[in-house]
Amino acid sequence: MGKALDGVRILDFTHVQSGPTCTQLLAWFGADVIKVERAGAGDITREQLRDIPDVDSLYFTMLNHNKRSVTIDTKNPEGKQVLEALIQKCDVLVENFAPGALDRMGFTWERIQELNPRMIVASVKGFGPGPYEDCKVYENVAQCAGGAASTTGFDDGPPVVTGAQIGDSGTGLHLALGIVTALYQRTQTGRGQRVLAAMQDGVLNLCRVKLRDQQRLERTGVMKEYPQYPNGKFGEAVPRAGNASGGGQPGWILKCKGWETDPNAYIYFITQAPVWAKICNVIGKEEWATDPDYATPAARLPRLKDIFAEIERWTMTKNKFEAMQILNKYDIPCGPILSMKEIAEEPSLRKTGTIVEVDHPMRGKYLTVGNPIKLSDSPTEVKRSPLLGEHTDEVMAELGYSPEQISALRTAGAI
Ligand code: COA
Repeated sequence: MGKALDGVRILDFTHVQSGPTCTQLLAWFGADVIKVERAGAGDITREQLRDIPDVDSLYFTMLNHNKRSVTIDTKNPEGKQVLEALIQKCDVLVENFAPGALDRMGFTWERIQELNPRMIVASVKGFGPGPYEDCKVYENVAQCAGGAASTTGFDDGPPVVTGAQIGDSGTGLHLALGIVTALYQRTQTGRGQRVLAAMQDGVLNLCRVKLRDQQRLERTGVMKEYPQYPNGKFGEAVPRAGNASGGGQPGWILKCKGWETDPNAYIYFITQAPVWAKICNVIGKEEWATDPDYATPAARLPRLKDIFAEIERWTMTKNKFEAMQILNKYDIPCGPILSMKEIAEEPSLRKTGTIVEVDHPMRGKYLTVGNPIKLSDSPTEVKRSPLLGEHTDEVMAELGYSPEQISALRTAGAI
């Protein structure tokens, strides 16, 4: 079966996490992704967080599946020529260097346009145009600057970053959407264009509901779904809401049986209004279904703390999976807190290809997260990441270089 992006060639000039997540997705959808790396060193993540000496790290292998690797010194004049040949042959150049690095290399937008007017140039940067546009940015900087950290954590503690890589992988996802959209527009215009996904913007996009709440707070001075209501205090900005859903259906994380020794023996419990009577039955508080102090969502809001404490008395008698099974019978929305160990061992995720076991010539078998987006006509086959420069000769031959020329370029240090 063919793949959605068959025939699309990507010059992958990305490194670390944000850019590589984007190009990995495009590779899974069928694009030919040619990763250009610095000769001798390669993407810095190859050697970061290594668990096996001298072997590409899981950090690298899990972000660079289905790609080919070529090593080119793009500051060497002959290396530059090879990159120019690649620009002429590819549809998209994706990069996430520090601001200005591509220009300093001599590959400005104007120069790339001269070489290939159909080329789409897609970039991840920390910030969009403005006071911080020249700054280098990593994941947690973006989480802080995009509004996530100030709204995550508990009211009485400092801002907290989340383990989900919303700044890096989140922005990579945004960029991938921009790229396929630009490819689609090119079918009409015949022209390439620039695509920019700033990490601050990507995080803020994922924090959209918090900007909603900022405006609600300014209008009303109080948000009744937040744990600060009714006893705590609201300030000028959206506060940290702990584990509250903050949305229309109040929720909280509750202890389950075994919580004293298992850090993940918890369940997320949502007191969804349509199933309130069922919740009352399950926890043995049938009278709350009709009591005017508890019967309506509005009546419950000032009492959420006590309500969740009562529900917790019930969840603590069950392990998280038993609780989930019982609650699901009554359509009560809830979710067990799953550890990475439990996720890695979950058979259903293996079956769907969301967790995949991959074989690597140097490290042997390892687990990775497969393509989270499933297309019925474009199945994903997860292939191991390339070794550094593994495809240099192959790609150079495709660009028309003879074995002698390749050997001369290698001697000159260009590749
Ligand atoms: N041949 C020769 N030189 C190369 C090369 C190659 N194949 N590939 C990269 N380089 C050079 C670049 O030209 C740049 O040189 P310059 O500084 O002289 O212009 C240099 O390598 C390093 O690039 P840089 O991006 O500055 O790397 P860094 O390790 O200092 O910074 C980041 C890393 C992630 C902080 C930075 O790239 C960044 O802010 N990127 C944008 C935001 C982003 O994606 N952040 C998340 C990363 S997960």
